[in-house]
Amino acid sequence: MPLDPPRPAETRAAAPAAQRRSVEAPPTAPRPEAPRKPQRERSEGYYDTKSQVFSALIDTIDLSQLAKLDQESAREEIRDIVNDIIAIKNFAMSIAEQEELLEDICNDVLGYGPLEPLLARDDIADIMVNGSKNVYIEVNGKVEQTGVRFRDNQQLLNICQRIVSQVGRRVDESSPICDARLPDGSRVNVIAPPLAIDGAALTIRKFKKDKLTLDQLVKFGAISPEGAEVLKIIGRVRCNVIISGGTGSGKTTLLNCLTNYVDREERVITCEDSAELQLQQPHVVRLETRPPNLEGEGEVTMRDLVKNCLRMRPERIIVGEVRGPEVFDLLQAMNTGHDGSMGTIHSNSPRECLNRIESMIAMGGYTLPQKTVREIIVGSIDVIIQAARLRDGSRRITHVTEVIGMEGDVIITQDLILYNIKGEDQNGRLLGQHVSTGVGRPGFWDRARYYGEEQRLANALEAMERQAE
Ligand SMILES: Nc1ncnc2c1ncn2[C@@H]1O[C@H](COP(=O)(O)OP(=O)(O)OP(=O)(O)O)[C@@H](O)[C@H]1O
Ligand SMILES: [Mg+2]
Repeated sequence: MPLDPPRPAETRAAAPAAQRRSVEAPPTAPRPEAPRKPQRERSEGYYDTKSQVFSALIDTIDLSQLAKLDQESAREEIRDIVNDIIAIKNFAMSIAEQEELLEDICNDVLGYGPLEPLLARDDIADIMVNGSKNVYIEVNGKVEQTGVRFRDNQQLLNICQRIVSQVGRRVDESSPICDARLPDGSRVNVIAPPLAIDGAALTIRKFKKDKLTLDQLVKFGAISPEGAEVLKIIGRVRCNVIISGGTGSGKTTLLNCLTNYVDREERVITCEDSAELQLQQPHVVRLETRPPNLEGEGEVTMRDLVKNCLRMRPERIIVGEVRGPEVFDLLQAMNTGHDGSMGTIHSNSPRECLNRIESMIAMGGYTLPQKTVREIIVGSIDVIIQAARLRDGSRRITHVTEVIGMEGDVIITQDLILYNIKGEDQNGRLLGQHVSTGVGRPGFWDRARYYGEEQRLANALEAMERQAE
């Protein structure tokens, strides 16, 4: 059986944690796209040769010794031995093929194996591995299959194991589901056999160091320039905001953008399952939940964090993703003087978002009358921003909706901005436009006036109106 050695401890796991936690530099111009290496389909022969060389290598080297070397020396060591093996076994290969094989083998022994080239690319949003032979990536909003393959399911599982062991977790038959992250901050989920029937399923949300800014979102057409202006005002004047959207629709990105408009003097506390937000302000406390350890102890939930936040004299609380009963604590915070708090919720429309909040409150075991729950919601949330990934792969803000009050038992909302789809071009790209619904005085008008932003708000809304004409 081909062995997959444990990865030397010092090669990757140790250093980056500190780097990840350092405050990032302010956003700069978008980085040029990383050159894309073509993902060549490899023949069965290639995998066969690689497997033979790999086995011979494992027989030859002492892995525990290799672990003591730094990455460069380890690579050198492997390079020498692999060249010898190829010469001795008389494999017919071109220099280029030999280089490729060497690179592959080093990646297997020292890093994330066949995933390395994908992890190195900046243009990929997600990597989805379904067993050893099917690896998909999301690029520019589109999911595509790659030629990347693992030798077998065992190699894939070993790499999964290597990833999760960095955060002190384990994935195997007895604990087949695991969340983890890479040293660079990328979010990882693994579900292993027997739960995953065709080999381990590994999903990676790549961490983007250079987070998108609102101006970039405008450039991509996710929102119109005037719409972006309204969002900036919403962020600045301390509206309580929920960002709603489906998986990978751009919720976290949008939340991060909005936090850019928080004043530098404000004390902000963020609560996340896996730190993704990058606030630029100096006065920020970042908190992260903790899963239970292998013995099932020590879990700290989002709810624990949000509750604790309230004792930390926050001015704003930002919750990365609201999934459960912590919603109640967030709403409480929103209507007890922590204006400008924000969070994201997984839902497909502003209306659905409100329903989800109601059911999340029920999950917490509160037995409040429905009307009371709705009154709390209305009293807390000012604006819902809906993000969506449309069928052409583009990500757009489809609604900016205000929560304005109650009529009887029903929550009344009012759309400020909508994205209207008008058709599609010959390449299948959707054509559409962000339009104002004609509301001249949104519910947060007084708030805008209080912060001296009423003129700016009026101008942005008027400009949108004019465009619609
Ligand atoms: N408007 C946009 N245009 C292009 N790419 C975008 C846009 N918004 C977000 N992205 C990219 O899409 C990916 C997913 O974004 P993000 O993490 O914000 O989504 P999410 O809704 O928070 O996902 P999840 O539900 O998994 O938490 C990221 O790689 C991000 O850079
Ligand atoms: Mg997210």
